[in-house]
Amino acid sequence: MEIKSAGIVGLGSYLPKRILTNGDLEKMVETNDEWIKTRTGISERRIAAEDETTSDLAFHAAEAALEDAGISAEELDLIIVASASPDMLFPATACILQEKLGIRGIPSFDLEAACAGFIYGLAVGAQFIATGLAKNVLVVGAETLSRIINWEDRNTCVLFGDGAGAAVLQPVERGQGILSIHLGADGAGEDLLKVPAGGASLPASIDTVQQGLHYMHMQGSEVFKFAVRVMGEAAEQGLIKAGLSKEDVTLVVPHQANMRIVSAAMRRLHLPMEKAYLNLDRYGNMSSASVPVALDEAYREKRIKHGDVIVMVGFGAGLTWGSIVMKWCKQ
Ligand code: ACO
Repeated sequence: MEIKSAGIVGLGSYLPKRILTNGDLEKMVETNDEWIKTRTGISERRIAAEDETTSDLAFHAAEAALEDAGISAEELDLIIVASASPDMLFPATACILQEKLGIRGIPSFDLEAACAGFIYGLAVGAQFIATGLAKNVLVVGAETLSRIINWEDRNTCVLFGDGAGAAVLQPVERGQGILSIHLGADGAGEDLLKVPAGGASLPASIDTVQQGLHYMHMQGSEVFKFAVRVMGEAAEQGLIKAGLSKEDVTLVVPHQANMRIVSAAMRRLHLPMEKAYLNLDRYGNMSSASVPVALDEAYREKRIKHGDVIVMVGFGAGLTWGSIVMKWCKQ
């Protein structure tokens, strides 16, 4: 069997219109613009409208990516949605998205790897292309984290935002597209970042709601230490697997959790900050949507062109991490 290479041929993103600034947050919890900016680099984030949910954000991003790829939804063979804030426990947001796209029959499933979700999604999608099982794969990272955040908890509510990004994968020439995939997980860190209630281990009840256990809980400084180590390591491993060195890298598209985490990763890679694409000042951490939205913006701003080497790298709850090194094959 011939193993085919997979490349991104279409990109799209969608950000809800409502902007929540650090100044707005000052009126909601005991925090201030200076603390948020210096500790995280975030100035504002987007919040989904009341009638918008994850599948809606995913739908707009998917439509843009399909148009960019020059294909119709009917031509898709597979939909993968990565999300830590899906519409429901089930059915999969990918199935709801399929319905919104007005198509039927193709396999559609969700993938949960928190903020590393889009990278995991691309990795899975690429396997379907490699084996010839699919020709057009839609991979979406979409989040309405605003629905699972405790807006009274200053430790978390200042960090996150809503949004969606999507990519269309297709078979491409050998040596183009995805050059390496590096994924990992460490379940020993399961407690560091989680939504404790609403699943099978702690079903939703009046008690769990009263205790706020249906919201995101995070041990921030522990996650920070893990992220500082793993982001650089994962990017480095991706480059080694691709047989490339830091000199070959045009742009790093990191998960947008915290400016200090990105700086640490770039230091480890011995690359200047100018080689990292950043938009966390405008959107905060959008979990699985961070990398695809950043990639879409970098592409539209012409920071990426044909033949460039791109390193996407992320980490998230689980704990999970991953990197994908690509030779950009889209014109
Ligand atoms: N405003 C003002 N003060 C605050 C705020 C806030 N919003 N949040 C916390 N503080 C206070 C704390 O209470 C603490 O006060 P204390 O010293 O009196 O106890 C002080 O600021 C310092 O807190 P630290 O936790 O030490 O601050 P740190 O420098 O670690 O920054 C942060 C906190 C930004 C959360 C950092 O730890 C971080 O970025 N962690 C990683 C988080 C992350 O990336 N999570 C997403 C993972 S991806 C996913 O899967 C969803």
